[in-house]
Amino acid sequence: VTDVLPSETTARTVLERLPDPVLIVRGEPGAAAGIAWGNAAARDLFRLSLPDAPLEAALRQPKVLEAVDAALADGGVHEVAFETIGVQPRFWHAAVRPLAEGEVFVVLRDETDARRTERMRADFMANASHELRTPLASLSGFVETLRTHAKDDPEARERFLGIMDEQAGRMRRLIDDLLSLSRIEMNEHVRPADEVDLAGVVQDVTGASAPILAARGLAFDVEGPGSLLVAGDYDQLVQVVQNLIDNAVKYSPDGGRIRVVVANVTAEGARAPRRSDTVSLSLLSPDGDLQDRYGAVWVSDEGPGVARQHLPRLSERFYRVEGQRMAGTGLGLAIVKHVVNRHRGGLVVESAEGAGTTFCAYFPATP
Ligand SMILES: Nc1ncnc2c1ncn2[C@@H]1O[C@H](COP(=O)(O)OP(=O)(O)O)[C@@H](O)[C@H]1O
Ligand SMILES: [Mg+2]
Repeated sequence: VTDVLPSETTARTVLERLPDPVLIVRGEPGAAAGIAWGNAAARDLFRLSLPDAPLEAALRQPKVLEAVDAALADGGVHEVAFETIGVQPRFWHAAVRPLAEGEVFVVLRDETDARRTERMRADFMANASHELRTPLASLSGFVETLRTHAKDDPEARERFLGIMDEQAGRMRRLIDDLLSLSRIEMNEHVRPADEVDLAGVVQDVTGASAPILAARGLAFDVEGPGSLLVAGDYDQLVQVVQNLIDNAVKYSPDGGRIRVVVANVTAEGARAPRRSDTVSLSLLSPDGDLQDRYGAVWVSDEGPGVARQHLPRLSERFYRVEGQRMAGTGLGLAIVKHVVNRHRGGLVVESAEGAGTTFCAYFPATP
């Protein structure tokens, strides 16, 4: 490859069309440098029009100006990171390299997205650690109590062991959900290849949940065809339906009904609001080309509902509506969203305070 250098015109075109802003700067060390040339991305970013515009007018970044000055003085490579403020703060990396006597070039790289991803990862780690530390602190506290005050009190001991068991269970659920989430994320770019009967998944999950419903005096209302084939992964589809039903059970008043509907619809059909007294919001839309038909499952409850301002955040990791913290991990809907995304499907929530909640997950149907 090395001995087939591109022609000068090709090289110029590549430079001109490079997505990263590139500037050629001329000047004497210590004196104001001027921009001799900028590629399309640079002209766009700095709204450059005049040739030989002073660098400091285009780029009010003392760190970059210093790096340019240093490169002009010592002919070396200088790199700096800086931030621009605006409607959206952006993070940049600038590499200044020598070109000729009194001439350097600057390549800028927008690192905002990488920074954001890094930030999200750090936030996630902090949240996960915090969520694990709470039950752990409680466990340690009770171990201490059992060793000291409750040593000779069999009744208290029994009660504390019960609480410890609960806290250990909470830690186990958190770890299971965290592992589940990372496993789903790991192969999120690979579409599942199997053909799965969504109606069968619903029957399996509702059947398995029946005893829990009976214990709370709740009833299922299941409606749909005998079978509905979608392109999917059976275990992950079970996870979706199970999480939606778990939430419906958790937030249902005793004696309430949980309605589960399965149907073959278009994407618009899946997103269409079903009631006029609730807010409907699409939490995830199929990315890429829309399919003609989708297998959709709706899970509705008669619970307290969710106020409009919380709806967009429900599928964020660890997001729980304040005052509604019912022993969950806050990861269920994040898992649902990632599974649906892997399937190139969609997720819709419809709710209002006091009006119950409906979630709809839809997956590409197989022809
Ligand atoms: N059916 C529902 N009714 C009311 N609120 C719900 C319902 N489903 C989810 N939510 C709200 O969304 C939050 C996130 O749900 P989820 O991710 O499943 O976490 P978890 O169930 O562990 O709390 C819940 O904490 C709750 O505030
Ligand atoms: Mg849940």
